[in-house]
Amino acid sequence: MYTRIEKVGQISPKESTIYLINDITKLKIYGFTNGEVNYIKTQNEKNKIKVFTFNRLNKWEFVQFIKKDDNDFLTLESCRKAGDSMLSKINGNRTKIIYIVDTQDNSNEAISFAEGMALGNYQFNKYKKSKDAKKSFNTLEKIFLVSKKTSDKSIEEINILTEAVYKTRDLVNEPVSYLNALKLSEEAEKLCCKEGARIEVMNKLKIETLKMGGLLAVNKGSLDPPTFTVIEWKPSKFKNKNPYIFIGKGVVFDTGGMNIKSLSNMTDMKCDMAGAAAVIGTIYAIAKAKLPVYVIGLIPATDNRPDGNAQVPGDVINMYDGTTVEVLNTDAEGRLILADALSFAKKYKPELVIDLATLTGAAHAAIGKYAMVGMGSKYKKYMDDLKNTGDKVSERIVEFPLWDDYKELLKSEIADMKNMGGAYAGAISAGKFLEHFTDYPWIHLDIAGPAFMDARDSYRGQGGTGWGVRILFDFIKNKCL
Ligand code: BES
Ligand code: ZN
Ligand code: ZN
Repeated sequence: MYTRIEKVGQISPKESTIYLINDITKLKIYGFTNGEVNYIKTQNEKNKIKVFTFNRLNKWEFVQFIKKDDNDFLTLESCRKAGDSMLSKINGNRTKIIYIVDTQDNSNEAISFAEGMALGNYQFNKYKKSKDAKKSFNTLEKIFLVSKKTSDKSIEEINILTEAVYKTRDLVNEPVSYLNALKLSEEAEKLCCKEGARIEVMNKLKIETLKMGGLLAVNKGSLDPPTFTVIEWKPSKFKNKNPYIFIGKGVVFDTGGMNIKSLSNMTDMKCDMAGAAAVIGTIYAIAKAKLPVYVIGLIPATDNRPDGNAQVPGDVINMYDGTTVEVLNTDAEGRLILADALSFAKKYKPELVIDLATLTGAAHAAIGKYAMVGMGSKYKKYMDDLKNTGDKVSERIVEFPLWDDYKELLKSEIADMKNMGGAYAGAISAGKFLEHFTDYPWIHLDIAGPAFMDARDSYRGQGGTGWGVRILFDFIKNKCL
């Protein structure tokens, strides 16, 4: 279950409460004594303390100062982080219900605070069975928000998004021992069909008939078959003429294949389907919110493993669109399966295609875990839009160039292209490779950095972050206005 937020008219005398404030005088209305207010005021001014805790007879009360930044988006992000920070106290006290009072009538800040708290409260507990392990489970179940200016609609939207992010994280956190390609497709089906989206899962035979050579080549070393999943959300009325298409890299585990990864590089590679998970989570949220927009999700999925019949460096493969590719490194597998999906997307004459992929260590190395790398063609207005949305929800994009100079890096001696560039600019040469398979407005998002955290990072948590769902949902929502 996800941590749900509900709007209420007033606080409860028995339940713990957080007061969000900028202006200290507001506290008097809520029963704080003059002595307490003065104490808070001096400690805040002199020692810059932002959180105050009061242990009342039958509940806890917290006072949380909101840190204002010149940039509104940064203020919202610090609200999310503050909401998350409060969790250690709440769960530490074994509290189940918390009230949040928006004393300043600043709905955006209150919602962001609650959002950070709800997202931060996520845990992946499925495989924790022992009594001891259960002691570390979070207790917080519900967040009640007292906020006059907050609409029911915006609360419902945050709940839909929180649930979608939870589901996305679950998918990323599942190991391949449970979540192989087939299972990933089934989970997509379960989630999206429930909300009225249509789904088609193409099996290996169909993929062979279609001659998706990239997906089949990566799957050659695997005992489990690949899948290619098409999710369609097409409500009876929608605002766009042609669909927006999201493509997610669905490598359910990346060993590197014959170019096998080192131990430390392989450890977290169950996350190599985080792009696919984000596409599933986003369409789930769009369908649940019944947004009047036509959206398609495409998910090529397989694991990447060495085996008796696995592809080897030097192999030449035939892609879905007929391009021949010399596979010089079997660990550059994501671009092979994405390329087939990008070519497949042409038939829809899409308004815009956005692909999400944990594609390169180079993207991670370049900007770390706090942003994703974005690139695109014929995309200018969409990219500006998407970047702004990314800043707003704090799933930020750093744009890299797609100059044709980088195409040189992909020249093969014996085929149309090779699947890896040189030692430098690895995120860009990967983008350049993908570009070859597009003929429509397209944006590539490399989420290798922010998709998965090995240590807890505020409300993003540990493990799968669900990165991509909040930006794509907001982007599509704005297309409906
Ligand atoms: N899945 C990896 C990229 C990755 C790295 C994702 C770190 C998440 C965190 C991808 O398939 C890969 O191995 N890429 C290679 C490409 C290279 C061989 C051209 C890389 O980045 O090293
Ligand atoms: Zn790889
Ligand atoms: Zn990979």
